[in-house]
Amino acid sequence: MPANGMEAMELEFSRDDFPGDFVFGTATSSYQIEGSRFGGCGTSHWDTFAATPGNTVRGEDGATACDHYHRWESDLDLVRDAGFDCYRFSISWSRVLPDGRGDANPEGLDFYDRLVDGMLERGLKPFATLYHWDLPAPLADLGGWRNRDIASWFADYAELVMKRIGDRVATAATINEPWCVAWLSHFMGAHAPGLRDIRAAARAMHHVLLAHGRATQAMRALGMDNLGLVTNFEYAAPADDSEAARKAARLYDGIYNRWFLGGVFDGAYPEDVLEGLGPHMPQGFEKDFGVIGTPVDWLGINYYTRKLIAPDGSGRFPALKEVEGPLPKTFMDWEIYPDGLHHFITWAHENYTKGLPIYVTENGMAAPDRLSAGRVDDPARIDFLNRHLAAVRRAMDEGAPVKGYIVWSLLDNYEWALGYEKRFGLVHVDFETLERTPKASWYALGRALKR
Ligand code: FCB
Repeated sequence: MPANGMEAMELEFSRDDFPGDFVFGTATSSYQIEGSRFGGCGTSHWDTFAATPGNTVRGEDGATACDHYHRWESDLDLVRDAGFDCYRFSISWSRVLPDGRGDANPEGLDFYDRLVDGMLERGLKPFATLYHWDLPAPLADLGGWRNRDIASWFADYAELVMKRIGDRVATAATINEPWCVAWLSHFMGAHAPGLRDIRAAARAMHHVLLAHGRATQAMRALGMDNLGLVTNFEYAAPADDSEAARKAARLYDGIYNRWFLGGVFDGAYPEDVLEGLGPHMPQGFEKDFGVIGTPVDWLGINYYTRKLIAPDGSGRFPALKEVEGPLPKTFMDWEIYPDGLHHFITWAHENYTKGLPIYVTENGMAAPDRLSAGRVDDPARIDFLNRHLAAVRRAMDEGAPVKGYIVWSLLDNYEWALGYEKRFGLVHVDFETLERTPKASWYALGRALKR
């Protein structure tokens, strides 16, 4: 073994295993890395959610995060030096429009302008996402995702940003993970705004797709192409072989997975989910499917895990619960289940996207990575990437048009309500000094991508 041991673990693939135009990349999001206190950024509902005791681990927030706002040049060097083709980043709505609408913050627009140019200078394709959860607090005051007007606010914001950088981004996505925006945040209360209210959730489930459709139209009107939506999916398996567990898992799949692709590609929400949500939906929601179904050019799939689902006996919709599964888990306590990624790629392709390009826009794992003697060994992450890339390769062999694979994340960062201890990065961040140290997985990816 070489002295520093960094060559010890390898990825089991090289570029030649994928088509010539396949892109490899890594991803981050604005609130998780930039530092929301810099550069005239407005307050977002993540700042206020985190300021409320009990909402986030140790009360941690993204005020400083990785200080990417000041360190973006060397961070982009890390993306380039690993040999990636693209960098997936998000734009902070609050940084660009501190009040959510109205006057723009010129410093914010300048920041993303420079960032995009910085990617191009380094030969990286910019993959932009307009909304990765940092909703301006003044819009949250008006009801945020519960308010139908958010579709117009979001379309105006999309237009403003893309008038500035739309000529240089390779792809643009509207929303990151509509399930998290709507269900996790308005029904489960785990993310900002922390609501546990079925009416709020039903409205957010619909408005998030309406906003996606309106923003897609706004970008199309600017002459842009390569527009997409980034969905996250979780494989739902019945916790046992009872009919009740099977039904519960099916409903979980409906809320989590089928709802969003049904809305965008079929012009309908799944019947089983509407049985519960129907009474809480905004009136006349069916009339919005024309906008929601505005054609996209690609679909992004974020995938991490599966869940075992059982009925919870409450009799209250959705009346289901998660049960601990038997598979090895990541530091998030998420089961490692690569077959789920293969499942969702083929499922989306066969039932919904039918030939549209698919990107795996996020995949990766958290580990309690430690810096020791100047290095960070993360063999479990390399193994995770190997197994998930094999699942992608298998789906492609069966005909799925996967065009790229993007690792979450470039940096250890602010993992939302769980704070800073869930390390997802290919690059370790010391949150005292903010020093970056590439992990063994970063080196392994670099070797694989240069082979
Ligand atoms: C996804 C989010 C991303 C990160 C990973 C672990 O749901 O898009 O911001 O938190 O999970």
